[in-house]
Amino acid sequence: MQVISPASVLLGTAVWLAACSLAVHAEPVTVVLGAQTREISALREELRDRKDHNILGLPFWEGRLAGRRVVVAKMSAGKVNAAMIATLAIEHFRPAEILVTGIAGGLHPDLAPGDIVIARQTVQHDMVRHGDSGVEYRGARHPVTGRRAPAFLDTPTTLVAIAQQAAGRVPFIPLVGDDRRTSPHLVRVITGIVATGDAFVESDSKRRQLREQLNADCVEMEGGAVAQVCNVLGVPCLVIRCMSDMADSTAMADLEAFADAAALNSARLVYAIVDLLHDGQQDALTLQMKKKQ
Ligand code: ADE
Repeated sequence: MQVISPASVLLGTAVWLAACSLAVHAEPVTVVLGAQTREISALREELRDRKDHNILGLPFWEGRLAGRRVVVAKMSAGKVNAAMIATLAIEHFRPAEILVTGIAGGLHPDLAPGDIVIARQTVQHDMVRHGDSGVEYRGARHPVTGRRAPAFLDTPTTLVAIAQQAAGRVPFIPLVGDDRRTSPHLVRVITGIVATGDAFVESDSKRRQLREQLNADCVEMEGGAVAQVCNVLGVPCLVIRCMSDMADSTAMADLEAFADAAALNSARLVYAIVDLLHDGQQDALTLQMKKKQ
């Protein structure tokens, strides 16, 4: 008869506990980032079993959203803030994916405040080489390999597909204004190019340039920076933007009128995306790999 020693029982228990703890940590986590409080507050309020983290004095809120483990954080405006918060979030929470949510200025002629852009690509419109013959848009170099990334970073196709599927389920708020552009209409959702830069665009000539040179559908101040960090660190990233204005000479007045509702529309789509991710309880990379098989 084989005798099981107390030592081997203890060892077995320790191995089992370690496996359990690994299993807990293996549960995918989605990081959701927004620049302004209004862009993250609705999602933060929905977090169940909330646990607040303080990393180097910066708050991160963890909890369950639609059943999935989620960490929400506020970036504040601009690319440096965005890159800092994204990097801290990746280092501390090892997310399966990062979703960026919030408002933007519309550039595509068919867009109006309230409409949504799902980024299939991001580009940094201020990462350029200015020459006498014009502007050359360039990707950033990898800090270790020195290899230059493309100026346009692709969103993983699976994340785009999940966002498109989620958009069909969301009760969006149609925005109300006093001209054709902003009169109540069904919220349009397009998949397109998000241009990012350290600039609030409220200029007809600049918006025309971004449209003509980059074919960008909307402009904002963080998405491309988060995408760059994610590209280097190997984390899938998706940017969702709802139009608060059209980046033209009335952009600031339009933003003040529409930003709250626009931020909510974007947050609602992000909630539906998280819900779909939780349904599959799998991360975007796993889905992508399954698709390729
Ligand atoms: N976010 C919302 N509207 C914007 C604009 N017009 N330019 C840059 N970022 C924005």
